Amino acid sequence: MLAMELDHDEAARERYVVSLKWHINLDLGPQLRSAYEGQAKPRFQRQHGRSPKDRHEVRELMLTEPSYQAWGSLSYLAQELMWTAIETEIARMQPALNTGSKVVRPRGSLTVDPAFRAPRYVTAVDIHLQPGGYALDLGEGDVTAGAFYEGATRMYALGQGIRIRGNRALPEVLAELKRQYPRLAPKRILDIGCNIGGSSMACKDVFPEAEVYGIDIGAGLIRYAHARAESVDKAIHFSVQNGERTNFADGFFDLVASGTLLHETSYKAIYNIFQEAHRLLAPGGVMAHLEIPVRHADMDIFTQFGHDWSTHFNAEPFWGTLHDMDVLDPMVKGGFARNKCWQRYISLPNGSRWWVCGAQKS
Ligand SMILES: C[S@@+](CC[C@H](N)C(=O)[O-])C[C@H]1O[C@@H](n2cnc3c(N)ncnc32)[C@H](O)[C@@H]1O
Repeated sequence: MLAMELDHDEAARERYVVSLKWHINLDLGPQLRSAYEGQAKPRFQRQHGRSPKDRHEVRELMLTEPSYQAWGSLSYLAQELMWTAIETEIARMQPALNTGSKVVRPRGSLTVDPAFRAPRYVTAVDIHLQPGGYALDLGEGDVTAGAFYEGATRMYALGQGIRIRGNRALPEVLAELKRQYPRLAPKRILDIGCNIGGSSMACKDVFPEAEVYGIDIGAGLIRYAHARAESVDKAIHFSVQNGERTNFADGFFDLVASGTLLHETSYKAIYNIFQEAHRLLAPGGVMAHLEIPVRHADMDIFTQFGHDWSTHFNAEPFWGTLHDMDVLDPMVKGGFARNKCWQRYISLPNGSRWWVCGAQKS
């Protein structure tokens, strides 16, 4: 059984990190707007005879503001503290992780092609500052990258992160998809960018009859996903693959989904992934992607600037690009008919808000 059981000190350290993140984001963060409106913006207006025109100008301005400098340093340190805490846990648990990741009689499958090379847009940065990045692979059987990610799911985003037992938003989105497409009864589902498999498990929960396939570019993530799914008796087929070009046959899937993949893959890759999804879908099949609801067109430039922290200081280079992007363009260029493509916000019963986009293959 693959499980990261924390000891007393580790649990206390994690609680401290979560409290620190709460404090930085919920108590201190909102005060930055006053610093902008009260000092930085009037200074800019005096110098330029106009207000800042976009989030880039707001950022240039705020980078010189002492309150933002202090807030930024704290935010960055809290993120590093989170990874240091997990690193300590992994060091202690390594033997248990190695044993726990060995699956004896799998119900699903694991395929790791040793010749696979992860795309540069993922290997060149340690996304979220995760040590070694998503593609970290310390050799045969290594699950370190997955253990790092699982640790982060406990503390990330103020401790509200997507949890190991399953992506909590995706089941609701898939349930809504069923209402949107009453005939959708997928025999095979592909989850692109499945990471440690939370989203793949959600697919299996909502469509228990379907065969679920999860792919990601990280071998350490995929091994972890496989071991974790098997430990809770879920038969899922995991493989290390690039969603831009997979080895599945044309029309193999009825549903191609992802959970928070799009903001972590490149602009160009999104075009390729949608084209590949179109190839992989059977006629009438559906593509759906869940994302964080920060569409720039729907918010003021200061709010955009606040979210854009991730682009500049949390090693998520495609964050800003995705939230600016017209995602219907790659769908149409990928082969979907424009009148079959959609995007919308969705509010869940637990009060959280998400953004989803997708299309149906004609
Ligand atoms: C935030 S994680 C996804 C989390 C997961 N879907 C869940 O809901 O629990 C985004 C993932 O996308 C993967 N990714 C980025 N580009 C990819 C690509 N071209 N093909 C496959 N996976 C990709 C990353 O390696 C990363 O694991």
